[in-house]
Amino acid sequence: MRQVLAELERRQAAARAGGGEKRVAAQHAKGRLTARERLDILLDPGSLEELDMYVEHNCVDFGMAEQTIPGDGVVTGSGTINGRLVFVFAQDFTVFGGSLSERHAQKICKIMDMAMKLGAPVIGLNDSGGARIQEGVASLGGYAEVFQRNVLASGVIPQISLIMGPCAGGAVYSPAMTDFIFMVKDSSYMFVTGPEVVKTVTNEIVTQEELGGAVTHTTRSGVADVAMEDDVDALLRTRDFFDYLPLNNRDGVPCRPTADDGARQIPSLDTLVPDSANKPYDMHELIGAVADEGTFFEVQPAHAGNILCGFARIEGHTVGIVANQPMVLAGCLDINSSKKAGRFVRFCDAFNIPIVTFVDVPGFLPGVAQEHSGIIKHGAKLLFAYAEATVPKITVITRKAYGGAYDVMASKHLRGDLNYAWPTAEIAVMGAKGAVEIIFRGKSAEEIAARTAEYEARFANPFVAASKGFIDEVIIPRDTRRRIALGLRKLRTKQLTNPWKKHDNIPL
Ligand code: COA
Repeated sequence: MRQVLAELERRQAAARAGGGEKRVAAQHAKGRLTARERLDILLDPGSLEELDMYVEHNCVDFGMAEQTIPGDGVVTGSGTINGRLVFVFAQDFTVFGGSLSERHAQKICKIMDMAMKLGAPVIGLNDSGGARIQEGVASLGGYAEVFQRNVLASGVIPQISLIMGPCAGGAVYSPAMTDFIFMVKDSSYMFVTGPEVVKTVTNEIVTQEELGGAVTHTTRSGVADVAMEDDVDALLRTRDFFDYLPLNNRDGVPCRPTADDGARQIPSLDTLVPDSANKPYDMHELIGAVADEGTFFEVQPAHAGNILCGFARIEGHTVGIVANQPMVLAGCLDINSSKKAGRFVRFCDAFNIPIVTFVDVPGFLPGVAQEHSGIIKHGAKLLFAYAEATVPKITVITRKAYGGAYDVMASKHLRGDLNYAWPTAEIAVMGAKGAVEIIFRGKSAEEIAARTAEYEARFANPFVAASKGFIDEVIIPRDTRRRIALGLRKLRTKQLTNPWKKHDNIPL
């Protein structure tokens, strides 16, 4: 018996050694942790239950029969984050560059299948040289098996991808189909074709970092959600993020005890909106003031800053926050902000997370570039997302709600459950000056000024909309948290379903 146990220990040690000391040292030299070190930080201490530790590849070509390393380049299993179940895979760059073989893919598929059966999220730590070159099409088949599972799991269990090293070619499409992508700065990259191929095909010279680094994807492309400082930062913040999420689409939002009183008054909000309609203010202040203990996990903070999206808690329960940001492009809706918020709203709806929307929107961003790039279709994404969402929806208009953008931002007409406005709200087809210049075209400057004042007095307030029942109540800003908390409590039993359909046809 002792001999058998010793043999087990030897095999376990061989698997844990990964690609060996030299390759582990090389990984560390790049400022990266190994797959197991990463899982140690991500999961509660000692909670990892590893599966398939002894799996080996089945390739015999190119001398591979002589080269096998147990685990085959990916550590898979389950564990807990603050006591809640999660399935994980972590690609091990020290073993064949973390490249994906048929067996490597089978390991990932096995934990995805278990996660679906049990209703638990999947977190993937990606660090891989891509398809296992020696295996060819078997490896491509492996990717497709993973893709198919990503799609079936979408909207059923949350899927999070951390990009912690290379992720190129076909490998990018599994993360792309997950709900959130976090990347590590100066250490990870994602692209369909790398700098060499780009240079050959288009003559463009670009570094890996510029083409597909964490900063590029969290600012310009919007492919990734958050750029993290290093491995440890990424893993710890993922733990934080995980705490906001339901385990699956039937679980309901998690609740964390809080000492922050739901009825807390916030006097500073009474003066948040400046007297001048054209002066910006920071919508983060409102979100921070309303959320439990001021905490807000912002998604895509560096992309499309004219809209803010993220998770907060009110009376301990997770809510999704969407807010126009007057500090960027005056809070206008454009292509990127519509796509960003549309996807976020759909995530919340899929996972029964109530949505709180703060509105200060002067309209859609005008311009040839926006029109030619399809603002009609992309703007419709956010409209579609809000309209189809059946979760509790509470809207607070702080200042402008103009034109079509008024409709889009979780208006009453899109089945908003509770639509509040501050006394500073202006709900109209457009700003007073623009409106008067159209209605009274050709009139003198004095007349325009007089008519503008008249238009402002008539429409630059929430009461016209309130008189029609489009606004349920004009609330005092200091009372905003209390009203939202009260509303969310009442809406917990909300029942609303959309008509049966195979699926909708959101404008893509
Ligand atoms: N298939 C098989 N083995 C791979 C691999 C792949 N796709 N990618 C990397 N490896 C192996 C390397 O052979 C090397 O093995 P060794 O430790 O036994 O020498 C090890 O992983 C580390 O790779 P290395 O190239 O030394 O690391 P690096 O940090 O210098 O470069 C990459 C990383 C990803 C840029 C580089 O490995 C690469 O270009 N890989 C191929 C990418 C690709 O074209 N993939 C297929 C299409 S999706």
